[in-house]
Amino acid sequence: MAPTGINAEVAVAVGPLADVETEVLAVPVFEEDSPDVLARLDAATGGEVGRLRTSGEFTGELYELAFVPVVSGAWRAARIALVGAGPRQRVSSERVRKLAAAVSLNARKRHVARLAFCLCGELPQDEAAQAAAEGLMLGEFDPGLYKNEKRLGAPPAYTVAHEYGDRAALAAAVTRGRLLGESSNLARALANEPSNVLTPGVFAERAAALAEDAGLGVEVLDEQAIAALGMGLLLGVARGSDEPPHLVVLRHDPPGAPERPVLGLVGKGITFDTGGISLKPSAGMERMKDDMAGGAAVVCAMRAIARLGAPIRVVGVVPTTENMPGSRALKPGDVLRSASGKTVEVVNTDAEGRLVLGDALWYARELGATHLVDVATLTGACVVALGKVTSGLFGAPEWWVDRVRRTALRAGDRAWPLPVDEEYFEQLKSEIADFANSGGRPAGAITAAMFMKQFAGDRPWVHMDIAGTAWLEEAQPYQPKGATGVGVRTLAELPFTWREWS
Ligand code: BES
Ligand code: MN
Ligand code: ZN
Repeated sequence: MAPTGINAEVAVAVGPLADVETEVLAVPVFEEDSPDVLARLDAATGGEVGRLRTSGEFTGELYELAFVPVVSGAWRAARIALVGAGPRQRVSSERVRKLAAAVSLNARKRHVARLAFCLCGELPQDEAAQAAAEGLMLGEFDPGLYKNEKRLGAPPAYTVAHEYGDRAALAAAVTRGRLLGESSNLARALANEPSNVLTPGVFAERAAALAEDAGLGVEVLDEQAIAALGMGLLLGVARGSDEPPHLVVLRHDPPGAPERPVLGLVGKGITFDTGGISLKPSAGMERMKDDMAGGAAVVCAMRAIARLGAPIRVVGVVPTTENMPGSRALKPGDVLRSASGKTVEVVNTDAEGRLVLGDALWYARELGATHLVDVATLTGACVVALGKVTSGLFGAPEWWVDRVRRTALRAGDRAWPLPVDEEYFEQLKSEIADFANSGGRPAGAITAAMFMKQFAGDRPWVHMDIAGTAWLEEAQPYQPKGATGVGVRTLAELPFTWREWS
């Protein structure tokens, strides 16, 4: 795996922009910024910034970019990059994050060696600085892992610049943002890996290596240990594949942490989802290599949680297997017994995510989790409901769902709640077992959540369906096609909000 964005430095500069020593100084410009707001930049560039603005060549439209050489000897940057920031009143930390990512991605293509990004707008300074650092790191991600010819230059040296403010506070925010951006990139790299490389065994190994480096407690359960725990749902899904399943367990146990709460993070780790005997159509099936994106989010969030020194105990549980139609595979109508004792009629072998997550949620409870969050590329129905913009949120009680939603919004992972009322359980009725693993087409995202609720017990629990948000189909100015790293920053920020839980 490429050391994507790892060990990149992000410096902080506080003071006049003219003093920022860099190659490219990126300055966000809002649509309504008049030429006089830009007067200083105009002077630095011998009138070129004003000319671009007046002629309409640069309008401030979102993600517009113009590179202008600096001619004034009073400035230490070689060039200024004007960055279109859209309307001023729409500025948010998410917008800063995306602007920084767009600049960083573009600078990388231009082989820029040193890049500084200026904070803009009236946002709280540390929030903006963290978002900028996250964006700079996200822009550095190189999706061409197996290309012989690298199209991108080496990552530049980054600086986050602000004209005034508390240097120590800005530096702390930037360090945090750097780590979260880097952890998101690690999750993206894992989810982009093809399934012939990233088998369940390799996924578990890489997860363990990342976690050990970060100082987490690590345990990887093999098929025998999984069987000893009675995890019939996870074993059932794994039957169709020659690759044995694994269960990755990560622990963050900071000295002096209170006994509770214990946050339990659970992620779907299907390294490839063919659908099994309920085989998927072949068109677009290649994307199913990212069916472990939720698991990668949990692993990489745990890494960030350890490195950031989160103040509470956190356990991460990632069940990983392939969903294959081998000759010993699950067949529709098969009945499985879960580790919790509940029995499941498998009416559709393509509804495998909820099976492996059912056993994993139960295990997170066994390990003492008092609050649960699971993240999974779980249903096409969620993509139908919310598209590729917003992840689905499900769970109970409402305050816990809302806590996760607000954390996700700040982290740049938009999510919106859907109901999980008891009536939906009707759709999972089975004649032969406690319930079935599919409720058919109506409310498909909700019945999937309803299935998992059976394994969350009475703990506060949230399920985040990232089927629509884990993968970007079309390149954007701020992000190439492929895995997005959704969920990493949300999960990593969540333990820091623990005093507001209840
Ligand atoms: N991994 C898929 C869900 C998915 C679909 C993720 C599209 C990303 C994009 C999941 O395992 C699945 O196959 N779900 C089925 C459930 C159905 C059989 C009840 C689905 O959504 O069709
Ligand atoms: Mn499936
Ligand atoms: Zn799946």
